[in-house]
Amino acid sequence: MATAAGSSDAAVKGLILSGGTGTRLRPITHTSAKQLVPVANKPVLFYGIEAMAAAGIEEIGIIIAPETGAEIRAAAGDGAQFGLRIEYIEQEAPLGLAHAVLTAEPYLGDSPFVMYLGDNLLQGGIVDLVDAFREHRPDALILLTPVSDPQNYGVAELRDGAVVRLTEKPPEPATDLALVGVYMFTSAIHDAARAISPSNRGELEITDAIQHVVDAGLRVEPHIVRGWWKDTGRLDDMLAANRLVLDTIEGRLEGELIDSLLDGRIVVETGAVLERSTVRGPAIIGAHAHVTDAYIGPYTAVGERCVVRKAEVEHSILLAGSSVSDLNGRMESSLLGRDASIGRSPRQPRAFRFMVGDNSEIWIL
Ligand code: DAU
Repeated sequence: MATAAGSSDAAVKGLILSGGTGTRLRPITHTSAKQLVPVANKPVLFYGIEAMAAAGIEEIGIIIAPETGAEIRAAAGDGAQFGLRIEYIEQEAPLGLAHAVLTAEPYLGDSPFVMYLGDNLLQGGIVDLVDAFREHRPDALILLTPVSDPQNYGVAELRDGAVVRLTEKPPEPATDLALVGVYMFTSAIHDAARAISPSNRGELEITDAIQHVVDAGLRVEPHIVRGWWKDTGRLDDMLAANRLVLDTIEGRLEGELIDSLLDGRIVVETGAVLERSTVRGPAIIGAHAHVTDAYIGPYTAVGERCVVRKAEVEHSILLAGSSVSDLNGRMESSLLGRDASIGRSPRQPRAFRFMVGDNSEIWIL
């Protein structure tokens, strides 16, 4: 196996994994990539790209799936909006994170690289990580954080400050140290990814590839994350990420207020109109949204062109163009897909009427 020696001086590239299927966020992911679901009205993926740009990385490759790749290309473009260059690398099927690395090998060449899972959010960014890697020159560097449910993640065991064992989603975890979805690799990872076999879930696991690097006697440095980290794979995680990001926003009023009250830190984007409504922050109201005779509670992100009328919405994410009107009770902890609508019909007989996509969930009072 090749060691890192000599390659750490080369420019560090970025690799963002934005393929996969997003089964845990259905039905949203039936029609859209999970990495484009917005957190505080910005696609999750953009936080990763911005973190790369902030760390001085100039070239990134984004792994895309055949089904959702076009949408991701359209959103992130050639990278100019982030101040870096983006190339897209199609992975024919979601065969695992290590398979994604192998798919990107022609793009990465011998360069050291930061790998960032496109559905992850890391508060502190990656500047510290890239600096530590340049300074200590390990063969790989992994991020770890203690979690209450380690069985849902890759789990690390350390001895004397070094990584000795990594296990993917162990039913009985040996520690509570989860692998955060941000890694730093030298080209040694390519040989390791080639050497491993698919796991029980049929994927080439990056966890196994890193274990292979450890077993080859190379140095894998652990880096404990300060600040919060979120894998946004499920609804609850999405809402938590939205909460954490909204907690950091500065208020800004660019839309129009008519007989309305803003209480706390609230962003009202251009063209949004709030009429006879109250918004309690932290919250964000997207461009050209209309909020009328309504209450928007804390930790709510209302997407662009949404309509909220005669309704109360709290701790929720409304994607672009969705609408909520004439509700008797308050809507909370909800995620509405693009152009979805919830309302009241005057038609007789009085009854619930639904047109609901596959895997949707509806909870009524
Ligand atoms: O979030 C951290 C966890 O991420 C780690 O603790 C685990 O060790 C690691 O295996 C990974 O676990 P997940 O099961 O959460 O990975 P997931 O399948 O959600 O994929 C993560 C991202 O990578 C997601 O944006 C989709 C993308 N992906 C996934 C696969 C399997 C690809 O681009 N290609 C793939 O083949």
